[in-house]
Amino acid sequence: MTRRPLLLRRRPPHAAGIGLRAAHVDEVMATRPPVGFLEVHAENYMSNGPALAKLLRLRRDYPVSLHAVGLSPGSAAPLSAEHLKRLRALIDDVEPCFVSEHLSWSTIGGRYLNDLLPLPYTDESLGIVSRNILKAQDALGRQLLIENPSSYLRYRHSTVPEPEFLAELVHRTHCGILCDVNNVFVSSRNLGTDPVAYVRALPIDAIGEIHVAGHHTTNADGVELLIDDHGSPVSCDVWSLYIEALRLFGGIPTLVERDANLPPLNQLVAEAHAADAFACWVKASDRRVVRQEAPYALAG
Ligand SMILES: [Fe+2]
Repeated sequence: MTRRPLLLRRRPPHAAGIGLRAAHVDEVMATRPPVGFLEVHAENYMSNGPALAKLLRLRRDYPVSLHAVGLSPGSAAPLSAEHLKRLRALIDDVEPCFVSEHLSWSTIGGRYLNDLLPLPYTDESLGIVSRNILKAQDALGRQLLIENPSSYLRYRHSTVPEPEFLAELVHRTHCGILCDVNNVFVSSRNLGTDPVAYVRALPIDAIGEIHVAGHHTTNADGVELLIDDHGSPVSCDVWSLYIEALRLFGGIPTLVERDANLPPLNQLVAEAHAADAFACWVKASDRRVVRQEAPYALAG
């Protein structure tokens, strides 16, 4: 069982990055926009095809973060050895600055479901997720960042608040946390909790990356519901929470996520620059010492 931090082979980027999607790849290759890093969905590059060849060319100029969706660390069944093997091969090719996954489950009986499904937060599920993350980190030879989900329901039998669940996961596995502040905001509005209290309850030294993204509001049987769709610009409320997170966490590599209604590339880059501007402003205005390097960058 792994009980020590795992070595990151690349220093983390200090400027905000963008999610690299297929529609923007050729333009990014042609124009090399000034962003701190690129993040891709790992499963889109496991076939070792032309997409990976382009990514490896971009890798010469940008740190690349691999954001996985298929490990399913919340499943009670053991992780897929084949999926781990393919992810390890991609990691060896790309040498990413981060590898992240979600606090969720998405496989059952060997079948992949097309969604990231929520977990009950109990001692039993904590044991399952911890076992799976330890297994994954051992197989991948590096630390995973685990992302907090966006939530639309709360299990009646959950006994552990989500940030405490994540903190205990960090304690047991030495994983890091990818704090998606849009997810925090969406969940808090949907479940009637305090988003600032949520980020304050996270283990600050484990935060390795931040996501910001857009959401939309819908109406479900007369009840307002926020949907995390990555389909619109980052809202003012989420930027406000991002500033609060930066005050708490210090300077953390940040990604602007966009998966739907993709805007022109320059708009996405502008949002990344907005994140940089907020980070500079917080650093300049904050009297506390802002951390220069994330602790997970240290050799284990
Ligand atoms: Fe995210």
